Amino acid sequence: MAKFIGILTAGGDSPGLNAAIRGIGKAADGIYRMQVIGFKDGFRGLMENRSISLDRQALSGILTRGGTILGTSRDKPHKMPIGGKIIDMTDAIVENYKKNHLDCLVCIGGGGTHKNAYRLVEKGLNIITLPKTIDNDVPETDITIGFDTALSIATDAIDRLHSTAHSHHRIIVVEVMGHRAGWLALGAGIAGGADVILIPEIPYDINIVAESILRRSRMGSPFSIVAVAEGALSKEVAKELAEMEKKIEKISDPEEKEKAKKEFKLARSLKESNTMQLAAKLEELTGLESRVTILGHLQRGGTPSAADRLLATRLGTACADYINKGIFGIMVAACGEKTKPVPLEKVVGRKKTVPPDHEWIKTARSVGTCMGDE
Ligand code: F6P
Repeated sequence: MAKFIGILTAGGDSPGLNAAIRGIGKAADGIYRMQVIGFKDGFRGLMENRSISLDRQALSGILTRGGTILGTSRDKPHKMPIGGKIIDMTDAIVENYKKNHLDCLVCIGGGGTHKNAYRLVEKGLNIITLPKTIDNDVPETDITIGFDTALSIATDAIDRLHSTAHSHHRIIVVEVMGHRAGWLALGAGIAGGADVILIPEIPYDINIVAESILRRSRMGSPFSIVAVAEGALSKEVAKELAEMEKKIEKISDPEEKEKAKKEFKLARSLKESNTMQLAAKLEELTGLESRVTILGHLQRGGTPSAADRLLATRLGTACADYINKGIFGIMVAACGEKTKPVPLEKVVGRKKTVPPDHEWIKTARSVGTCMGDE
C-alpha cells in the first residue's frame, strides 16, 4: 500500500497544473489516506530536496489559479547546471526519493519531462506522469492539460485582431506558440477565422500566401489575418534543414554526430520564428501594409478554462487510483470520456504533430483558408 507520494511540475507552465496537483492530492489523501508532498521547481527541487506539504490547506483555493504553486524549471536530472558546470545529478535525485520514503513520484509535464521521468524509471523509481503542455504534442493522449485554455486565448486574440486589420486594410501576422507542432495555430486559426494558417508540419510558399491575400483583396476584402506557428518554415528553409538532417544521419562518429546535432538545433532556431521577416515580405509582395502580433507567454498565463480544470481533475484523481493499485511506469492519458494508463515506453521520445491528412487541416481548407502550400 502506497503511503507517501511526491509531485513535481516540470517544463513550461501550463494552465491547469494546480487543478491537477489538487486532483491528485485530494484523492490520494481523502480516499487513500496517503501523505502528499510537492517538490519545488521541477527536478531541481527534488535534487535539492526542497519540498512542501500538500495537505488539505495547501490544496485549498488552487483549482482556478494559473501557473503552478510548485514552481517549475526545464532542468534535467542528468544535465543539471550547477556552478557554471553541467552535472549528472540523477543519483542525488534517486537518493532524495528514498530519503522521503516515497512510494511514487508524479511528474506533470510535456515531452522533455517524460524523457526525464523515464530516466528515473530506469533507475528503479515508481513514476507516474500526467501530460501537460499548451502545444498538445504529447502522444497517446487525446489532449494535454493547458491546450484548451491557450486555444481560447489565441482565438480571442485573433478575433480582436480582425477589427483592426479590417479598419486599416492591413495584413496582421499573429505568431502563435508551437515550435514543432501546429495544433495551437491550426486550432485557433480555424476557430478565429484566420485567412492564412502556417504550421511547422506544412512548409509554406510565400508566393502562394501572398497570392491568397491578393485574391481576397480583389474580392473586396483588402485585409488578412495570418496565424503562424513559431516553428513554421518556408519550403526553401525546410528543404535546407532536411538536407542537413540527412547528412547528420550519415555521421557514424558519436561525438561528431552530437556536435552536428547541436549545430542543427541552432541553425533551425535561427531560421524559424522569422515572423517579422514574413510580414515584411508579405507587405512587399502584396502592397498591403503589415503588422505583427506575437502572443508569446500570454497564451500560457492566467486562469485555466473549465475544460482544462475538468481534464486536470480527471487525470489527477485517476492518477491517485493507479498509485493505490500499484500501477507505475505509466502516463495517465485522456481517452474519450475515460482515462487510461499508457506505458511510458510508448510516450518517451515521440511527438504528436499534426498529420497531413488530419481533419482540422481538411476543415481549414474547406472554408477557404490558405495553408501556405496550395
Ligand atoms: O511549453 C511549451 C511552450 O510554451 C512552447 O509552445 C514554446 O515554444 C515554449 O514553451 C517557450 O518556452 P519558454 O517559456 O521556456 O520560453
